[in-house]
Amino acid sequence: MTNRKIYRIALEVEAFPGMPTTAAKLLPLLENHDSTASEIESILKYDPGLTANILKLTNSAYFGIPTRISSVRQAIVLLGWKRLLQVVMTICMSPLMNKTIPGYDLPRGALWQHSVAVSVAAEILVNALKIPDADEVFTAALLHDVGKLILGGFVKEDLQQIESMVTKGITFDVAESMVLGTNHAEIGGQILGKWCFPAELVSAVQWHHDPESCDESCNLSDIVHVANTMGIMTGFGKIDQELALEHFGPVADRLGLAPENLEDMAQQTADRVKKLMVSWA
Ligand SMILES: [Fe+2]
Ligand SMILES: [Fe+2]
Repeated sequence: MTNRKIYRIALEVEAFPGMPTTAAKLLPLLENHDSTASEIESILKYDPGLTANILKLTNSAYFGIPTRISSVRQAIVLLGWKRLLQVVMTICMSPLMNKTIPGYDLPRGALWQHSVAVSVAAEILVNALKIPDADEVFTAALLHDVGKLILGGFVKEDLQQIESMVTKGITFDVAESMVLGTNHAEIGGQILGKWCFPAELVSAVQWHHDPESCDESCNLSDIVHVANTMGIMTGFGKIDQELALEHFGPVADRLGLAPENLEDMAQQTADRVKKLMVSWA
């Protein structure tokens, strides 16, 4: 690790694009349940592409709404604020994350599919365990690996060294930290901080591989940690880079998760992700 490398990584975080414009405008409105449908429509009317995609996704088999939705107002009524927020985030973050990521050997679409699978898994987990106050978990899970967009190029430069550590049993994120002085989870937390997301979301992303080190607002990081494992169980994600089972036991205990239920929830995740991918294509 060199100070120069750390400096270059910090510069890339600084230069990383802001949150997509329409998402930045819609997010505060969708998080405030006192917002009105007119306020949402007044923003969406300037973004016909996003509006069309909202309607396409709302009408997909993923949501299973029997009526054909033809307006944003109808979508708000039938989906509700929380689901509309999920739809908007999923659509708005797609162009950013649907890229080839060097270093992590992720072809175009792989990071995006993994992120969607983990966000669906997180929602299934929250519902199954009846975890309260976890409205933001979908967004945290969707963005948990966003740091790879920056760190990919740096990992590529030192891939041999990182991979030789991984073959000795060191987890990928720890190898990143040892070689680069930081890892993709920490950089992801910095991106979310730059985008002014709440502290719980920043923390969830920052500690998704090491939830034991989280010391504040850690419920979301526990959920994203398990959801990440579920996402990989569904076949979306690289086991050698993303799986760190040493924390799983304590996290499952804290969440009240019986490990024997994991397989079933991963299967539900796989079924739902398949529906989402079909409608997304
Ligand atoms: Fe990760
Ligand atoms: Fe991941």
